Amino acid sequence: MKSITFGITGASGSIYAQRLLIQLNENPQVSRIDLVISPAGVRVAGEELGINVAGTEPRVVRELIGAVSDKVIVHSPSDIGATIASGSYLSDAMVIVPCSMGSLAAIASGITRDLIHRAADVMLKENKLLVLVPRETPFNAIHLENMLKLSRLGVRIIPAMPSFYHHPKTIDDLIEHFTHRLLDHLGVAHEQKTRWEGSKKF
Ligand SMILES: Cc1cc2nc3c(=O)[nH]c(=O)nc-3n(C[C@H](O)[C@H](O)[C@H](O)COP(=O)(O)O)c2cc1C
Repeated sequence: MKSITFGITGASGSIYAQRLLIQLNENPQVSRIDLVISPAGVRVAGEELGINVAGTEPRVVRELIGAVSDKVIVHSPSDIGATIASGSYLSDAMVIVPCSMGSLAAIASGITRDLIHRAADVMLKENKLLVLVPRETPFNAIHLENMLKLSRLGVRIIPAMPSFYHHPKTIDDLIEHFTHRLLDHLGVAHEQKTRWEGSKKF
């Protein structure tokens, strides 16, 4: 059983967070999800998904994934005394999706002014799996240097870049293909048939 820490920050792409959270919540291998949404993440989710995910009540989870869940615990980004702020708390992996350039920079420089950055810092110091889904275009040299720095520390940098080799027909197809890749990196097994099976003859 896995315990996953899940950060949502204010980059574009809240729909990736929504889909991944649904998949983790439905997955029987996942026993607990500690969710933190930054104020900018709340704002972007409002803009992009038309939902209100401010606060820590169960309502936030219902807004995001359409159901309440015993598995998902919502923490305030200002609660630096939450469980996930400590290395003694056993979280198997952390994902930040989408990850803003601001949060990327804070994590790369060890500045932990909110719970998302602190939880990421804890994953680094405890040598645990940290997956970041940065989103910006174009990247400037600061963004690229921050990603390189974190990659050298073993952080998985997985930008939200859709692929087309699986012949997506809808936006949903693009999103699912990407979130399945995230599940692979988080070590959460899934049955979804979105893997490359070799070139077809044409
Ligand atoms: C609609 C909207 C879209 C945004 N998209 C991005 C983005 O794709 N990448 C990014 O780095 N910042 C983006 N921003 C800016 C961040 O939200 C801002 O830098 C914020 O301070 C990040 O804070 P956080 O990392 O604590 O969530 C966006 C802001 C808004 C309102």
